[in-house]
Amino acid sequence: MIRIFELKNIISIKDFERKDIDYILEEASKLEKIAKSKEVCEELKGKILGLMFFEPSTRTRMSFETAIKRLGGDGIGFENSGSSSVSKGESIADTAKMFEGYCDALVIRHELEGVSKFISDIVDVPVINAGDGAGQHPTQTLLDLYTIKKEIGEIDNLNIALIGDLKYGRTVHSLSNALGLYKNVTIYLVSPPELKMPNEVFHDINKTNVTWKEVETIEEIIDDVDVLYVTRIQKERFGDIDDYLKIKGAYVVNKKMLEGKDLIVMHPLPRIDEIDTDVDDTKYNKYFTQAANAVPVRMAILKTLIKNNPK
Ligand code: CP
Repeated sequence: MIRIFELKNIISIKDFERKDIDYILEEASKLEKIAKSKEVCEELKGKILGLMFFEPSTRTRMSFETAIKRLGGDGIGFENSGSSSVSKGESIADTAKMFEGYCDALVIRHELEGVSKFISDIVDVPVINAGDGAGQHPTQTLLDLYTIKKEIGEIDNLNIALIGDLKYGRTVHSLSNALGLYKNVTIYLVSPPELKMPNEVFHDINKTNVTWKEVETIEEIIDDVDVLYVTRIQKERFGDIDDYLKIKGAYVVNKKMLEGKDLIVMHPLPRIDEIDTDVDDTKYNKYFTQAANAVPVRMAILKTLIKNNPK
């Protein structure tokens, strides 16, 4: 089947239809050989990717940079506001306009929701949201779905537990939205009362066929799930550090609790203490594979957006 991908920007996973996700996952699958063989192709030879990271990142920034280089292009950018002229008072709008002049696409991470959307409205090159505050992280969701499909074989008919910081965790917001496009999916929402999924996300989930249930312990659902999707408590988004300290360490997945279970453990990373390192050497650990899958998935995203939208 010939598929067409029409989105110019990737701002929210809510802009995707299932056919768009299928398109990116299929392209990623085709590019995986290059990503894993450590080769470079010429798909985006001479193209420049702008990496505007106002907030810290390891995986997202490095995997986008790896992706553009494996496609034959290159990346430029900054890793915090302090190393750009934003620190001298230049506006985000002016900074984005400069990048538009230098680059074929922009990747934006910012602590405020809506910044990627704002930039996409004022530049002509494709804009990719690499995480905006507690809002969305759509490319993370695409690599999460890619990992689930590769490891389990399908995304329909799954029971998935989202664990930890469901209030501030943008990865679980985007993933919940995306799962609404699949059939017969149940989501278990495992969080302390203070970190429940926001009402806006419930509002979206309730428009889909997803079944969901809120619980407070992993033990309540561990026998019923195919995926444990664990998240970090987002310390940097708490107004009062004491509120964070009260909840810190609320959930820890360890090897003993997984023994005999038929499931995979995922995590967008970084991990603090919510998955014990004794899980790392077990068959349940798919979080490092998930992080590696970022390269073919982001290669697919860049190839698609930059080829579809030549400067
Ligand atoms: N998963 C993720 O977004 O990680 P980074 O914050 O390191 O980019």
